Amino acid sequence: MSDVAALLAEVRVCVVGGSGGVGKTTTSAAIAAGMAARGRKVAVVTIDPAQRLATALGLDELGNEPHRIDPERFARAGMPLHDGELWAMTLDPKRTFDELIARLSPDAQTRERILSNRVYRELSDAIAGSQEFTAVAKLHELAAEGDWDLLVLDTPPSRNALDFLDAPDRLAAFFEGRALQALLRGGGTGLRLLGRGAGLALGLVRRVTGAELLSDLSDFFALLGGLLGGFRTRAAEVEALLRAPTTTFLLVTSPEREPIEEALFFQRRLRAAGMRLGGAIVNRVHDDALAAEDGATLGDLPARLEAEAGLSPALAKLVAAAFADEHALARRDAANVAQLAERLGAGVPLLRVPLLDEDVHDVGGLVRLGAELFAGG
Ligand SMILES: Nc1ncnc2c1ncn2[C@@H]1O[C@H](COP(=O)(O)OP(=O)(O)OP(=O)(O)O)[C@@H](O)[C@H]1O
Ligand SMILES: [Mg+2]
Repeated sequence: MSDVAALLAEVRVCVVGGSGGVGKTTTSAAIAAGMAARGRKVAVVTIDPAQRLATALGLDELGNEPHRIDPERFARAGMPLHDGELWAMTLDPKRTFDELIARLSPDAQTRERILSNRVYRELSDAIAGSQEFTAVAKLHELAAEGDWDLLVLDTPPSRNALDFLDAPDRLAAFFEGRALQALLRGGGTGLRLLGRGAGLALGLVRRVTGAELLSDLSDFFALLGGLLGGFRTRAAEVEALLRAPTTTFLLVTSPEREPIEEALFFQRRLRAAGMRLGGAIVNRVHDDALAAEDGATLGDLPARLEAEAGLSPALAKLVAAAFADEHALARRDAANVAQLAERLGAGVPLLRVPLLDEDVHDVGGLVRLGAELFAGG
């Protein structure tokens, strides 16, 4: 069975994708920490980590740049980083977007005019709020400007893992003014292109009226239009980065049907886009404490718990019922994982991570998760 260190041996950029709530953020952090413990200089870009995890990593004090995590935090939890370095940040989509605009602007005056334009301010909130593109824009910036051995990118909490791959199109539409034009014409296209930002943009159109709106709008189109060429170049670079042989995607899924279907769909999309799937991680798999028991002995369990563990009949019945539920879940998980393995194909390494007793909300939890992801603990 392979482990994450083997999967990432030659990798410089690792994108962790999957459907909502499956464990992308915690897995990204655990992978980054584990690779740092193997001597790499690693940066992880997390997106909306749970508050306690962010606090545990010291991420709540940060700006929009990676920040070196105190290695003592990991040493104390039993995972010394040795010569490795772990850097982490939480993505600030709005700031990332403003920074991108600033980089693309030919001069300071243009930059100020765009950043203070009301249409830009409302729309950039809306677009940046969808997070998908800003995440890759940040990745591109770090890859271009830093000397990292490995960059790990968490992806946004989205109901649909594929939003992530569609984001650059939405952004191009933004720069070209297509989304807004369509919106103003009143078609459905604008709404689709803007994604979740559509509500906000409509609010703007309602609030800002008449001559004011027209002048802000025409400014907006003229200014952004000037950045379009630069944006296209950058979008092409981002795509090249995602397709690079040293870039890999890891898909995280839970052992349930729906996220598994989404992971398989994601695999097809990656293949079509010419991007590499490095492996799949099935997270929160129920372990089977009663793996050796068959149906007949399960039926005897209450009596055995009474006799062997000295439980009262009522308690023995409750405990046996809980074991039986676990057992059923573990069997369902095992069947789903087997099916996933078959459908992913033999070439795709599959890692199983058990459901831990507790949520992963501190450095100790990351170390425990790491022990499951990396062979040899
Ligand atoms: N193996 C595990 N055992 C127990 N709890 C886990 C495990 N993996 C993740 N968790 C917990 O599951 C919850 C969801 O994890 P996480 O936030 O990493 O998911 P996510 O995919 O990033 O979610 P979102 O799509 O909302 O960003 C967290 O509370 C986390 O601590
Ligand atoms: Mg997350």
